[in-house]
Amino acid sequence: MITEPIKIAHISDLHILGKQDRRQLDDLDRLFAHFNISGFDHLVITGDLSNSSNPEEWRIVKEKLESHGLYHWDKTTVIAGNHDLINLEEEMRFYNALNPLPLLRKKAFDRKMAAFCTFFQELISGEEHGERAFPFVKIINYPSVRIAFVALNSVYPWYPADNPLGARGVISAGQLRALSAQSTLASLKECFVIGLCHHAYRVYGTDSLIDQAFDWTMELKNREEFLALMQTMQAKLVLHGHFHRFQSYVVNGITFINGGSFRYTPQRYSELLIAGQGEFSQKFINFGLSG
Ligand SMILES: [Fe+2]
Ligand SMILES: [Fe+2]
Repeated sequence: MITEPIKIAHISDLHILGKQDRRQLDDLDRLFAHFNISGFDHLVITGDLSNSSNPEEWRIVKEKLESHGLYHWDKTTVIAGNHDLINLEEEMRFYNALNPLPLLRKKAFDRKMAAFCTFFQELISGEEHGERAFPFVKIINYPSVRIAFVALNSVYPWYPADNPLGARGVISAGQLRALSAQSTLASLKECFVIGLCHHAYRVYGTDSLIDQAFDWTMELKNREEFLALMQTMQAKLVLHGHFHRFQSYVVNGITFINGGSFRYTPQRYSELLIAGQGEFSQKFINFGLSG
């Protein structure tokens, strides 16, 4: 029997500005309608859904997904980006005026993270209410292939010296531990594993000289640990965003796809086709544009 490959759409960095930006909302409607017409099996959004970590901006994304019938556990997966959890202006004001203690700030960050997970709980656990959070593994059995999405949080709290722009990332030790557990690895057997993380393994991913500079304010601090985990899981693909550029690159046999930014290029997205036996293909698509 010949089965169709599984079609996954990947977008990132929506940076939704609010209800007043009609153009952005219309673009989002157009994109989601296009995904439905094209018959995608799943949509992945790799963080920075909102621009100023305002739950009202999360709500806009949720409502748009709902109105296109995409707000279901088996239809869409989202992870958080730094703009979903950190409001830089607020952090600085808060820090200067009231709260120099890193522990209290970390607590506030954890609360924000929990709020994000509660808000999008249905897409995390399949239940409307609950407290499941990162990391989570979503395994979907399609007729031709069993796909496991391994979703991590890579947002690192704001710290004045170590993370002055709130844009550095880290995968916490707890997440690395949970995902390296034998029981987790056993559940991934015979799955086509796709890692999801907001931050880039490579901040710059081209050979051009200018791109070989390294910007530490954007980096994933423990990217080598993350890569080692992805190798242990035998991940074929990692989808990320953060660095607003559409690109793909291969590291140690794992293909990394950067989903670019919907905010800046709303007609472009990444399409993945997954066949059985671990075969896949990927391309960036400009829909509605010729040439
Ligand atoms: Fe972003
Ligand atoms: Fe980001």
